[in-house]
Amino acid sequence: MPTPRRVIAVVNQKGGVGKTAVSTNLAAAVAQSGGEVLAIDSDRQGNMASQLLPDGADYGLADVYTQRTTLQDAIVRSPTVGVDVVVPGDKLAQAELGMVGAVKREEMLARHLETLEDDVPLVIIDCPPNLGLLAVNAMTACTELLIPISMQDSESVTGLADVMATIAQLFGPTDQPPLRAILNRDQKNRRIAQRLSDGLTAHGVPLTTVRIPERTVFHAAPDDGLPAVVSHPDSLPATRFRELAAELKLV
Ligand SMILES: Nc1ncnc2c1ncn2[C@@H]1O[C@H](COP(=O)(O)OP(=O)(O)OP(=O)(O)O)[C@@H](O)[C@H]1O
Ligand SMILES: [Mg+2]
Repeated sequence: MPTPRRVIAVVNQKGGVGKTAVSTNLAAAVAQSGGEVLAIDSDRQGNMASQLLPDGADYGLADVYTQRTTLQDAIVRSPTVGVDVVVPGDKLAQAELGMVGAVKREEMLARHLETLEDDVPLVIIDCPPNLGLLAVNAMTACTELLIPISMQDSESVTGLADVMATIAQLFGPTDQPPLRAILNRDQKNRRIAQRLSDGLTAHGVPLTTVRIPERTVFHAAPDDGLPAVVSHPDSLPATRFRELAAELKLV
């Protein structure tokens, strides 16, 4: 029997906490370890897509949501072997507006994923910094949630309450997908560490053992078509992302 597909939604409505860094580099780390992954960029900023696919693509998620193409046909091979990508497309904001009146509008992505012909074992979705319909579709389609928390931002844990409330609304109290937080931009700051850890405990959200350190490799040429894990395979963040892939049993 084939293993059921895992779909990880990387969410936090707080901006700049590392959703894109985590989703993109985790996808690359899984591929580096021999796995296959479909990376879906569900943020109109397109930062995940530009890190994985510098030349872009003819069709994107916007065209899937507006039924100009199928999800299968929107998939493009990336230069990172093992990572396939769906870019956001030019008109994702308009597509999101157009979804408002649709029947079961929060289940659209889940339905598109069901139509995939290929046996894609793992899907990682990078979400925008809000909990609008695009993020809600990713959360509805996912089997698990990963919430990056930034140590650069002692307030980044405040986003958790809204994520949890949205999940409770979508799934009810008993049927919620498992959710983990990952500490990004880790640095030695006891005060912030304590504050974040208190916030996580208060919300009952477990933290992954692996933490992603604060490193400048993430600032280097974001549009060079290579995530940090690939451009700096021997760096500490690359090692950490491969460890994260192992901790989450993705490889
Ligand atoms: N571990 C890290 N060390 C240093 N810089 C980092 C790290 N993680 C992310 N950054 C930097 O922080 C900025 C925000 O990261 P990123 O784009 O991944 O966040 P985001 O949550 O996806 O943002 P948005 O909400 O706008 O989508 C980027 O410039 C990125 O290079
Ligand atoms: Mg982002």
